[in-house]
Amino acid sequence: MPADTLTLTDNRTGKTYEIPIADGTIRAIDLRQIKTSADDFGMMTYDPGFLNTASCKSRITFIDGDKGILEYRGYPIAQLAEQSNFLEVCYLTLRGELPNPAQLAEWTAGIRKETSVDESSKNVLAGFQRDAHPMGMFISSLAALGTLYPESKRVSDPAVRLASIYRLMAKAPILAACGYRHSKGLPYVAPNPDLSYAGNFLTMMFASADGKYDLNPALERAMDILFILHADHEQNCSTSTMRVVGSAQTDPYTSAAAAASALYGPLHGGANEAVLSMLRVIGSKDRIPEYVQKVKAGEVKLMGFGHRVYKNYDPRARIIKRAADEVFAVTGKNPLLEMAIELERIALEDEYFVKRKLYPNVDFYSGIIYEAMGFPTPMFTVLFALGRMIGWLAQWDELVQDSDQKISRPRQVFLGPARRDFAPMDQR
Ligand code: ACO
Repeated sequence: MPADTLTLTDNRTGKTYEIPIADGTIRAIDLRQIKTSADDFGMMTYDPGFLNTASCKSRITFIDGDKGILEYRGYPIAQLAEQSNFLEVCYLTLRGELPNPAQLAEWTAGIRKETSVDESSKNVLAGFQRDAHPMGMFISSLAALGTLYPESKRVSDPAVRLASIYRLMAKAPILAACGYRHSKGLPYVAPNPDLSYAGNFLTMMFASADGKYDLNPALERAMDILFILHADHEQNCSTSTMRVVGSAQTDPYTSAAAAASALYGPLHGGANEAVLSMLRVIGSKDRIPEYVQKVKAGEVKLMGFGHRVYKNYDPRARIIKRAADEVFAVTGKNPLLEMAIELERIALEDEYFVKRKLYPNVDFYSGIIYEAMGFPTPMFTVLFALGRMIGWLAQWDELVQDSDQKISRPRQVFLGPARRDFAPMDQR
């Protein structure tokens, strides 16, 4: 008997099936042959939330959630955060290898040449109320950007794809910063392609009306590290959305808008915003035990804790904690930090969290740093999206070149009524 197979016996029929195993998986479609009769549709798997379903083969990001390991293209996240910079990590994420100097120069130039604000995007943002959520503005402006580049629908053309990737990388921070300045009633600050990716973004955000901004190198570096930490995270909710929408050959701008919409949710990228709201609700260290009791009673969630994949400390949370010290050396300590540290200490000793392997995730500390840097809370998820844009694009680029992939279309288990005849209104 070949070793790489799974033998299944259907006890309803007594029939036995040999299912091939490849890369530790069986193909769900191989289960379709398992039938109780000729007109039976065949066996399917039922997996709400995709807890145990691999939707693709990917070579980009590796996570071992039990050991707390995260690697982009084989490189440990801590080494990248310490020794690399965001644009280099973006190249690595997309291309698979670290760039040499010429490759990095070409990559950087490709993004820089797209660094301008479109009139159309300005008009889209101008239509929003001042108090519109920045994620709503960001999502809409990404989709609107796609209308300017109708050729981007030609997703099988590598040159068209690369042009879209350069443009989205260049324009996403511009849209984010312009959205913020619109909400403040401030004039837009022209991008400066001579600055670093993070430096340009901070300047567009915080420069005075005349464009002046004293860019602090420590904050610039911290922003760069935060972008690196968020660059990719394999098949998370927003990335899966990018792939699902992209599988219909939708252009990458609209697909990225869909991915950003998924990120917006408080169980995903919206958690960093929710952490700060939670810390404010708790209010003071002495009220932490009372809040933890509420969490244990199932009344509220401990935001920034828990992860579908990590059942150990999120390695990004460790790095963020270190980056926090460098930011606070410049900005002064965020008073919420002490409360977060105490909350983490209490939670990590508590049986409820220990038993469920609930540890702080990337969002537990990121919001505290963002706040210290001057970002308003609703902007936090936008910052996550800026870091994650390259991950969405790299995964989309991988998807469209993968001959295994088809339009995403899950099956369902239908439990609704059997066929029945329409009842006219007077008979209901
Ligand atoms: N607070 C309290 N209890 C929790 C939490 C939490 N944050 N997270 C999970 N649990 C409990 C669940 O109630 C469940 O308990 P039970 O077994 O008694 O029913 C158990 O832990 C397992 O949780 P699931 O919901 O099955 O875990 P799942 O993988 O579906 O959810 C998620 C993961 C959504 C991240 C969840 O942990 C959560 O809601 N966390 C808070 C929101 C958050 O921080 N999200 C950011 C995630 S990281 C990111 O997107 C960047």
